Amino acid sequence: MNPIIYRWNKRGKIDDPDVVLVQLTEEKTSYIKQSADRQRILCVGIGDRKEVTLRRLHLIVRQVVATAKAQRVKKIAIDFKDFVFSKVPLKNKELAEVLGINFDFANFDFVLYKTMPPDGWSFIEEIYIGGSFGIDVEAGIERGRVIVRAVNDARTLSNTPAGEMTPTRLAESAQAAAEGLPIRVQVLDRDDMKILKMGGVLGVAQGSSEEPKFIVMEYSGGGKKDKPFVLVGKGVTFDSGGLNLKPSQHIYEMHMDMSGGSAVINTIALAARLKLKRNVIALVPAVENMPSGSSYRPGDLLRTMSGKTIEVLDTDAEGRVILSDALTYAEQYQPKLVVDVATLTGAAAVALGQRASGIFTKDEKLARLAQELGEEAGDYVWPLPLWDEFEDEIKGTFGDWANVGRTRYGGASTGAIFLYQFAKNYPWLHIDIAPTMTSIDGQFLAKGATGVPVRLLLKLLEQF
Ligand code: BES
Ligand code: ZN
Ligand code: MN
Repeated sequence: MNPIIYRWNKRGKIDDPDVVLVQLTEEKTSYIKQSADRQRILCVGIGDRKEVTLRRLHLIVRQVVATAKAQRVKKIAIDFKDFVFSKVPLKNKELAEVLGINFDFANFDFVLYKTMPPDGWSFIEEIYIGGSFGIDVEAGIERGRVIVRAVNDARTLSNTPAGEMTPTRLAESAQAAAEGLPIRVQVLDRDDMKILKMGGVLGVAQGSSEEPKFIVMEYSGGGKKDKPFVLVGKGVTFDSGGLNLKPSQHIYEMHMDMSGGSAVINTIALAARLKLKRNVIALVPAVENMPSGSSYRPGDLLRTMSGKTIEVLDTDAEGRVILSDALTYAEQYQPKLVVDVATLTGAAAVALGQRASGIFTKDEKLARLAQELGEEAGDYVWPLPLWDEFEDEIKGTFGDWANVGRTRYGGASTGAIFLYQFAKNYPWLHIDIAPTMTSIDGQFLAKGATGVPVRLLLKLLEQF
């Protein structure tokens, strides 16, 4: 739900009695009180103002929305100045963008499959922003809302159950996301992939009755000679583990195993909507990983588009197998940079916790940039090693590369070094978003998908 945002000059009282005034207080708790002139005031306790950092600011904006929703307040008025903090050195326009993003980020909920309760949903419907600010603030809020629309659209795709969000439906969603925008969408089917010799994608797809799709989206906002960015997203619409079937605790959220795909689909749509002067390609190999009589098996040797073979030791390490073909496909664009985004390994979450995605690259400067931009965007990332030594752990016995490491240690890095075998011909960054795929307590976000790292990818497209 996107609330309507109004500007309010603060001298005049808002004559709608349903509007509740928001005040940030240094208390620990939040509550509603009434002023002498009967104005309702929602006091949101944020603690010591002096301690508020950019990380906290993102949370505070969402806390305001979440508190209002919990109190079933539908219309709020805030004072822009309240969100200026001494430790957060943002220009007005940037601050406004943070507000615009986090209002709708927190207001989102996945209710498409729920019956509306008798008293309606608790979404915020109207936000009045008071203060004597310029059009830069209005522009910042508007830009923030365009950005968060892409984030929330990615969340919706990821949250949609796997019975609905099949590879075919993911491809249709990519087409729908590009609707009305200057984006060329091409969907390769099984026969096309056979011609291209994409043995990785075809191998993983083999066990499912759902047809695999390879989604190609192209946006040309830059000059004819500008090399493009290629964004590659893992599109496993359901990851059962295949014949190496996952145990029940681990299978539950695996309809979100296409979250990398939903992120890159919506990032390229966002780039087009913002008319970015960049050339951007999004590639999404989309498959369902299922056990059946036709599944790929442990021991299978798959010949990928690159010509290199993969020795399948575990059918649950399917993401890297499909991504190998997508990374090879990317070569034809002679990319300036390839970024792949994948819910690749539980091991990344074991290493990092659930508050940052893992990043892997041979380019230290790029790692630092991604970390900085992630910090600004609120899509936190943290570097993990991509040392050549890890190659020893994935050398195949009968094929070129085994799809899992020899030990259970360093699983995020062995996954990354596997991908690297197919990404040696261009600058490359791998983002393992398994840690941050779903929201956690205290983020003031709806349960389910987070839409990471759309906000970070946008900054990378703009600033790399
Ligand atoms: N999609 C999973 C990784 C995952 C786990 C994402 C939890 C989000 C939350 C991936 O395909 C997978 O199964 N990885 C295996 C790799 C192993 C077999 C080497 C894993 O993490 O256990
Ligand atoms: Zn997976
Ligand atoms: Mn898996």
